[in-house]
Amino acid sequence: MSKADLKDFDDHTFLNFRNYIYDNCGIVIKEDKKVFLGSRLRKRIKTLHLTGYDEYWNYLINNSQSSIEKYNLFEAITINETYFQRGNNHYKILADYVLPEFSLKHGNQIKIWSCGTSTGEEAYDLSMVSLEYEKDHPELKISIIGTDVSKRVLEFARNAEYADRRINQLTEYQIHTYFNQISPENSTLPYAKKVLSVKPLLKEKVNFQYQNIMSDDYILDVDVLFCRNVLIYFDKQTQYEIMQKFYNSLNHGGYLFLGYSEVLNIMPEKLVVCRFPEGTIYKKEF
Ligand SMILES: C[S@@+](CC[C@H](N)C(=O)[O-])C[C@H]1O[C@@H](n2cnc3c(N)ncnc32)[C@H](O)[C@@H]1O
Repeated sequence: MSKADLKDFDDHTFLNFRNYIYDNCGIVIKEDKKVFLGSRLRKRIKTLHLTGYDEYWNYLINNSQSSIEKYNLFEAITINETYFQRGNNHYKILADYVLPEFSLKHGNQIKIWSCGTSTGEEAYDLSMVSLEYEKDHPELKISIIGTDVSKRVLEFARNAEYADRRINQLTEYQIHTYFNQISPENSTLPYAKKVLSVKPLLKEKVNFQYQNIMSDDYILDVDVLFCRNVLIYFDKQTQYEIMQKFYNSLNHGGYLFLGYSEVLNIMPEKLVVCRFPEGTIYKKEF
């Protein structure tokens, strides 16, 4: 048993980890989150058979495996909570206002980016909206890119099997049209009560890839950008820098969807606020 006891997690090492995480992943771990971070790091310490936080810090910084361990650290600290139909008012705005506008004014190809997509539910929700819309507008070709900093969640997304609380909000129609029910024993979720596997037609529209929002490697020529429940983990300065890059990623006339609690009070001069009965989104008009 590892000796990674919280009482051995001294303030100096805690600060080292906080700074490292902020510099490399942009995520702010607040001063009062020592217990949270300690318990997340403990899992890595145990897996690596190390004796405690100090040794893990040295391993992370000095080891030849440092760059690999950096990703394992990201996996350990990111919060991946998501489920199908989360914030589905946004999907209504997309279907009722945004896609019709594209049908009229823009070309036939629409690129949607789900940034911080986690285990893929948001990207597949967007795929469902797109397929429904394309039924009446066969001239449109909508593609979706789902990205995340966690390779583990991307693997889950590509595997495309979902169960329990993740699928509770799906309608009967959506389940019937876009999913196959498979027996839990034949799935990667053997302990679940009910497992749904995403049908190929839904999968084909989505491409998952690794992307760190802290890098300069952003998807370009994006028409619709969803980045929900991601920015809350970053401080104001980092949010501001991300907004600049999102702005550059978007095509003129493109739309940005943020999480409900993520009010955009930066770059108001560049992104126009669009209020709908179902919620607020942002448009790159200039
Ligand atoms: C709470 S989930 C949000 C999932 C989905 N967008 C939703 O609203 O349900 C936040 C996601 O952001 C990802 N994330 C955190 N830091 C990131 C970074 N630096 N670059 C890219 N993704 C990041 C996490 O891995 C996690 O999957």
